[in-house]
Amino acid sequence: MSERTILLVDDEPRLLETCKEALEGPGRAVLTACDGAEALATLARGGVDLVISDLKMPRLSGMELLRRIAEQGLDADVIVLTGYGTVQNAVECLKLGAVDYLLKPFKIAELCAAAGNALRERGLRQEKGKVDQLVAMLNLQSVLSGQNDQRGMVKEFLNQVRAAFEPDGIALFFSRESLGQRRDIALGPFFRAQPQTRGWFAALADRLLRQGRPKLLSAEALGRAMAGVTVDPPASAMGAPVAGGGQATGSVVVLRGAGKPAYTGDDLHLLAIFASHASLCFESQRSCAMLKEVNREILFSLASAVEAKDTYTRGHSERVGAYGVKLGRALSLSGREIELLRMAGELHDIGKIGVPDNILNKPASLTAEETRVMRQHPGIGRTILSKVSALEGVLPIVTHHHERVNGRGYPDGLAGEEIPFLARALCIVDSYEAMISNRAYHAARTPAEAASLLARGAGSQWDAAMVEVWLAVVAGEPG
Ligand SMILES: [Fe+2]
Repeated sequence: MSERTILLVDDEPRLLETCKEALEGPGRAVLTACDGAEALATLARGGVDLVISDLKMPRLSGMELLRRIAEQGLDADVIVLTGYGTVQNAVECLKLGAVDYLLKPFKIAELCAAAGNALRERGLRQEKGKVDQLVAMLNLQSVLSGQNDQRGMVKEFLNQVRAAFEPDGIALFFSRESLGQRRDIALGPFFRAQPQTRGWFAALADRLLRQGRPKLLSAEALGRAMAGVTVDPPASAMGAPVAGGGQATGSVVVLRGAGKPAYTGDDLHLLAIFASHASLCFESQRSCAMLKEVNREILFSLASAVEAKDTYTRGHSERVGAYGVKLGRALSLSGREIELLRMAGELHDIGKIGVPDNILNKPASLTAEETRVMRQHPGIGRTILSKVSALEGVLPIVTHHHERVNGRGYPDGLAGEEIPFLARALCIVDSYEAMISNRAYHAARTPAEAASLLARGAGSQWDAAMVEVWLAVVAGEPG
């Protein structure tokens, strides 16, 4: 798992030193700051996962620090430390977004447990966030590719942006050259009530388009930049260029008022992906086939990105796809079925994008809870792939590639012929490839050892007739 960074903030140097020593360890770096102002400066450089801060400090208090973190959309979790008798303060901090609090004096073990919990929760949230982002992106793709004209596409694009970013204001400003007969679209109270706000963002949108890059604006930056424009600027905003060519060139802008969480760097990244995918869709509107190819390419590149999380499985899926083709041919399947096996082989573990790295790369056996998380990957894969209609045929294969013919597999415990035929086939080549490769939890076996393992599990784990066909395939291969 990637290294986690904790920032300790307290004006008592001795306490800082003791806590730093206790929290430091493998995969964990600890930084310190003596007050809120120094902490903010460190946070601005990025890379901090967890802030553990005292409340009472000179210059900038813990409470004010929390407020600034929220205002500036800084992506760090916060635990507050507070003196006895100030529970009310702690409650206030939780309202401001702190994830936990500790009453002083606390035991070092309590501090370590609270930090461990917060980092674990953060890891799970980040993994889930990745899946949500991916699903939102694929939704955008499939909805846009279902539109026949540009008007419908623009409408759906804005609908999807609204669903993903929950803004208080949303706008699509077209470039002055492409405006022609059409008008900018600007919706929500910020734009409706304040024409000057609309004008300011239209100018910003034009700049983003010229510079060709997205931008995130915090409450502080908006307050400064819009001082002469309005007394009531939004609390957070971001925009990204949409370069759809000709009629569909412009920038999308979303705003949030106070009372909602500020947009973060992650949100900006997703908006930029939305905008560039929308650009692609606008551009290739006339070519449906091309769009489908774009979707597929995105998924295949995602599948290899998932493999890159685990150094041992690099290239695994591609090899499973190639083995699937060989087994399909030996089973005399149709060209369509063989192609499905190849695609399913390449995509079967895409759901591992939702499994934390520390579980994927664990060199020892998994705990019951880790096994439960790991076993979600076929279902997550199904959710992701179901967003692309062209991949409908691979869904049952990906969903059931860990079933066993004796009914003891997952996710549904299907037995024998209840397991889709092609899933039974994929299961054999997936297992075989895993056996002959180095894994975090075992060294590579020889093809002969793998063949005898398959033969032993034929009829219980794998379909016996198919194992026989596959063993004949590998026996015929040169050394
Ligand atoms: Fe798998």
